[in-house]
Amino acid sequence: MARKKIIAGNWKMNKTPSEAAAFIRELAPMVAGAEAEVVCCVPAIDIVPAVEAAKGSDIRIGAENMYFEEKGAYTGEISPAMLADAGVSYVILGHSERREYFGETNETVNRKVKKAFEHGLVPIVCCGETLNQREQGITMDWIRQQIKIAFLGISAEQAAEAVIAYEPIWAIGTGKVATSEQAQEVCHGIRELIRELYGDSTAEAVRIQYGGSVAPANAAELFAQPDIDGGLVGGASLKPDFAKVVYYQG
Ligand code: 13P
Repeated sequence: MARKKIIAGNWKMNKTPSEAAAFIRELAPMVAGAEAEVVCCVPAIDIVPAVEAAKGSDIRIGAENMYFEEKGAYTGEISPAMLADAGVSYVILGHSERREYFGETNETVNRKVKKAFEHGLVPIVCCGETLNQREQGITMDWIRQQIKIAFLGISAEQAAEAVIAYEPIWAIGTGKVATSEQAQEVCHGIRELIRELYGDSTAEAVRIQYGGSVAPANAAELFAQPDIDGGLVGGASLKPDFAKVVYYQG
């Protein structure tokens, strides 16, 4: 069965709650009936109004992070149960910005991936190399390690449901998009790793996104690659133009 493409916006730290609701209402008719699955991953405080605004539309709402404990004395954190109860479908885990600025590690990502599944949330597990790592020729070693640890203790059935986002750090917010060959090569390597870990049917089911300066102008070529099942889109997801990425086939 062909994998359904998934185009997800990552708003990062942008849009207030009222801006979020207004934007979702504007976007909803523009992406109605899209062939790809459309997700907007929004800041925690925007989740409730975004879910409300997306009701009855084809837009699903995702979170940008969550904590790995159920509840308790973790000031400022958001639990998986809170996200699930609020109507969230997806949660981005291990984004490179969280790794760089907020001390996220492969181990904390793994704990979060497990918790997400326990609560019926689908994780969008992020991985990606720095420019330095690419130049040293260790891209695939690094990514294999990130993914192997993130998926420790995850069953084949769960892995088949997961989304993996390959986001080369040097391509994020730089306007310097990876070539479709570079992106395909790594996304293929990730699928082969999933095959090694879980077998053919899981490898064929898992969806792998590319992220890093995705825009209406480059989406068609990237998403035409055999192992790229859509994108995780930062800057271009903040404007109604996001619909053009969703309709990448033109
Ligand atoms: P840009 O699309 O702004 O490069 O961001 C990519 C990203 O980090 C999505 O998670």
